[in-house]
Amino acid sequence: MTDEDTSETAVRRDRFSGGPAREFLSSLAADTAIFEADLAVDRAHTVMLAEQGIVDDAVAGEILAALDDVEAAGHGALPDGEDVHEAIETAVIDRVGPDGGRMHTARSRNDEVATCIRYRLREDLLAAAEATLTLREALAAVADEHAETVMPGYTHLQPAQPTTVGHYLLSYEGGIARDTERLLGAYDRTDRSPLGGAAFAGTPFDVDRERTAELLGFDGLVRNSMDAASARDFLAEGATACATLATTLSGLAEDLIVFSNKGFVELSDDYSSTSSIMPQKKNPDTLELTRGVAGDAIGEATGTLSLLKGLPRAYNRDLQRAHASVFEIADDVREAAEVAAGAVATADWAVEDLASAAGDGFSTATGVADLLATGGMPFRTAHEIVAAAAEGIDDDDGPATAAAKVDEAAREITGESLSAYVSSEEVEAALDPVHSVASRDSLGGPAPEAVAEALAASEAGIDDDADTLSARRAALVAASDRLEAEVATYV
Ligand code: ARG
Repeated sequence: MTDEDTSETAVRRDRFSGGPAREFLSSLAADTAIFEADLAVDRAHTVMLAEQGIVDDAVAGEILAALDDVEAAGHGALPDGEDVHEAIETAVIDRVGPDGGRMHTARSRNDEVATCIRYRLREDLLAAAEATLTLREALAAVADEHAETVMPGYTHLQPAQPTTVGHYLLSYEGGIARDTERLLGAYDRTDRSPLGGAAFAGTPFDVDRERTAELLGFDGLVRNSMDAASARDFLAEGATACATLATTLSGLAEDLIVFSNKGFVELSDDYSSTSSIMPQKKNPDTLELTRGVAGDAIGEATGTLSLLKGLPRAYNRDLQRAHASVFEIADDVREAAEVAAGAVATADWAVEDLASAAGDGFSTATGVADLLATGGMPFRTAHEIVAAAAEGIDDDDGPATAAAKVDEAAREITGESLSAYVSSEEVEAALDPVHSVASRDSLGGPAPEAVAEALAASEAGIDDDADTLSARRAALVAASDRLEAEVATYV
């Protein structure tokens, strides 16, 4: 093998070139996802080496200029290599000569790759968290518009009690708000720098780990050098936060698919698809795909944990397979959240059909039982009377007929008329879905005042989270500007 041989890399020389297993060993193709991250890590490390007097300023300048050149040429132009770290180092040495090899002083690919994947995952988690905010805004806006739109509420997919579209949508806003929190929690634990941990056992060079962390915009360090090189719990946490969000989204998607099947909501054409053969069809495909993403996300979370389970300290090559698919799933889940936001924001709720279905299946029964109990009857007796009446009440019965049937059941069970407890007008009112909803004004309940209060709390939560996310985003932008400015002082 000669110096010109393109299969020779900075680290491999003529041994360990991989032979027939070369493709299997290499992560270079998948490493496109961390090409930018690796350049940033190389730059921050080189600046720190110069500042610490480990590498001359002039050599640092040559290395940094070579990195600019490598970046401009792109990932596709990299020489062959086991991974992007090795390929970029080879490309730098090709440009600078042997002094280019000083870039890898006081580090290992183990702390290097751990830094790169944290750097990249931060972006993905932040983007996913931003998408949850877009969805929460859409849910809150439509909840506001339909705060008084009565609809059937279900348990076991059977009509249970009337509620409102506003109350229903805010139930998802609450769930997605916790998904935002989980993503932010995962972000904050990802946002710590392992750089300077070297292979796992530290380095004799006087490195300034705080400085590289600062240049890369990390909020702190993974202090123990063995932990720094080995830890991937942040990947598991990111993947599970994404899987949990995807699971929440799948429930929302399923509901909207069922509601559109019942004619309660119509998706905008932009979020629907048609059949290639049946011209009359309008299918909720975007929501079905949203529901489907959860399957992949759960698989990803399980796969990540399975890969990590039982790995001994410190570095093992299994880790090379751990991250690329987490970046991908974070991206898919972000997209699903954005699509769900668009579908929610543009859907049309069938206000009249919802109102007429709201009382179906004697869904006001609980309200009638509550009324009897309010009038002094033991709740259990009231429950028994209303249950007996329910067997004879049809969806077509008007309030007077239904009230008479409840009274008849009361006479059979207790031997006395309901008038001992409540008036027939009150029973008729309790049978009305709008009245039923308005009566349930407990904290967090569906009554319009309760929904208005909940909406204000949701909006305040959205504003707070928006501030938190934009602070994280601004910190990343500031760090990358700072690194660029430092680099400019050398080249
Ligand atoms: N491409 C490798 C990875 O992603 C880099 C680390 C290689 N380190 C080693 N000790 N072989 O894990």
